[in-house]
Amino acid sequence: MSKIVFSAMRPTGKLHLGHWLGALHNWVNLQKDHQCIFAIADWHALMSEYENSRPLSEYIVDMAIDWMACGIDPDKSILYVQSDVPEHLELQMVLSCLTPLSWLERNPTYKEQLKEIPSRNLQTHAFLGYPVLQAADILLYKANAVPIGQDQLPHLELCREIARRFNFLYKKEFFPDCQPILTQTPRLLGIDNRKMSKSYGNAINLSDSASDITQKAAKMITDPQRIHRSDPGRPEHCNVYSYYQALAPDLTKEVYAWCTGATKGCTECKKILADRMIDYLAPMRDKRAQLEKDKDRIRDILREGAKKAKSIAQKTMAQVRQAVFGS
Ligand code: TRP
Ligand code: SF4
Repeated sequence: MSKIVFSAMRPTGKLHLGHWLGALHNWVNLQKDHQCIFAIADWHALMSEYENSRPLSEYIVDMAIDWMACGIDPDKSILYVQSDVPEHLELQMVLSCLTPLSWLERNPTYKEQLKEIPSRNLQTHAFLGYPVLQAADILLYKANAVPIGQDQLPHLELCREIARRFNFLYKKEFFPDCQPILTQTPRLLGIDNRKMSKSYGNAINLSDSASDITQKAAKMITDPQRIHRSDPGRPEHCNVYSYYQALAPDLTKEVYAWCTGATKGCTECKKILADRMIDYLAPMRDKRAQLEKDKDRIRDILREGAKKAKSIAQKTMAQVRQAVFGS
């Protein structure tokens, strides 16, 4: 059965392999059979970037280009910028009224971010309400399925609780239940073995040049017990090997053999991986170069997308007002 699929990403800079493997490649596949709606969540980005908000407009266009370079097709899916559809904020208001503070305060992602990003003051009203706006994004389109990375599961769970509470208070079965769609690939770590993230500077970006990729691969941390070239390695303790598993599954047997048999050194192993990653990302890089030539066209696509999104959003908001106020 065809579903309504909704997802979004914050435009905070270049997309990396983690975005692609963790979510985006699912988005591309879902377009075939479902009505997909993909938002560039600039309000969510502003919640953490409000002190340096000017680059966001450039990141928005960059993100649209990255998405389309990966295969998001504006003829099949609705692609737009969250702040172009003000109904997101209207629904957020209604949902804010019925969301208990305690649900937000115990949100694990919230607590984690406050700890992990000490450079920014995230003790704000809006940031605590981050998942409420995210719930509004999803529910505005009555989405049934949300393809996201593992890290977003607590937010989706909150969205479902908020939807149930709305339905309980105002109208039975108004918002459908929405389910996460996760990818099969386990999460890839960054080149320094920490979580892959722009803020750690440890990511392989989808737009990286061949020489960027070679340099980053060379820096990757390998099995710490393999000190000499003649020491056998343990692939299961090596991040390089997990990259092979995700990006070049046809080579994993060979890599396992040369690692455990110490027939190739780590430098060579990483060089071979780099060449594979370069080939893997080449089609995206080429398409991106094409798309970058005409940014006005990208802006037009986003404007068209916003119109389509808005026509759905307005219908839902009319029904929401009816359900809440009875008029
Ligand atoms: N919070 C998500 C992220 O950081 C982005 C997002 C905003 C989102 N609204 C959404 C994801 C709605 C799924 C559905 O990646
Ligand atoms: Fe990792 Fe490859 Fe070195 Fe083995 S040979 S430890 S898989 S980099």
